[in-house]
Amino acid sequence: MKYYILFGPPGAGKGTHGAALVEKYNLKHISTGDLLRGEIAAGTELGKQAKALIDAGALVPDAVVEGMIESAFDKFTGVEGFLLDGFPRTEGQARDLDAILAKRGEEVTAVLSIMISDELIYKRIQHRAAIEGRADDANDEIIANRIRTYHNQTEPLIAYYKAAGKYHEVDGGSPVTEENRARVLAMMESL
Ligand code: AP5
Ligand code: MG
Repeated sequence: MKYYILFGPPGAGKGTHGAALVEKYNLKHISTGDLLRGEIAAGTELGKQAKALIDAGALVPDAVVEGMIESAFDKFTGVEGFLLDGFPRTEGQARDLDAILAKRGEEVTAVLSIMISDELIYKRIQHRAAIEGRADDANDEIIANRIRTYHNQTEPLIAYYKAAGKYHEVDGGSPVTEENRARVLAMMESL
């Protein structure tokens, strides 16, 4: 099985471009953000605990998302692999993912990183707020916290995966979505 990580700051286009990748390469798209929003919508206990953290632009505990990832690995078969979107997001999650995969005799295949500037994060998310109605897109304070959380807790993973020789990056900042998608697909082709 292939285990790809789709990496990037909030609003980089992980969800947007991930959709094209999973179709072309027969992968299962696992977005921890989408799974958590599903739990909130279903009114589960996990969803209730996660909601306050998500609405503040903070991360939910590592153990929560790791549990969701492991059950997804168990549940989905008949695919060539997985495209992890929004996971891992802390060094702890990255190390735990390595351990989870090692137990299965597997490893991370590659990290595909989509980069955009902080300025563009605001523009993209403010635009999406009106379309998707996500609570964590709703005000600039929350967006600012998500950007801070990304720089403090998630950005160090770039060095982690560079050291492992698995890190690949493209610029996702073109105003034309198709241009960004072509770059992401070309990065995947080059692996
Ligand atoms: P999550 O849902 O993962 O949110 P995120 O990382 O902030 O990323 P987004 O979904 O906002 O952005 P995206 O990169 O998918 O961009 P998109 O394709 O939509 O996580 C939400 C929360 O859940 C976290 O804050 C945390 O609390 C919790 N959580 C999730 N995973 C966790 C974990 N592992 N550990 C702990 N907590 C976790 O694109 C953005 C928009 O831009 C779209 O509307 C798109 O149409 C638009 N757009 C406009 N122009 C372009 C263009 N030229 N190219 C691409 N897109 C464009
Ligand atoms: Mg997303």
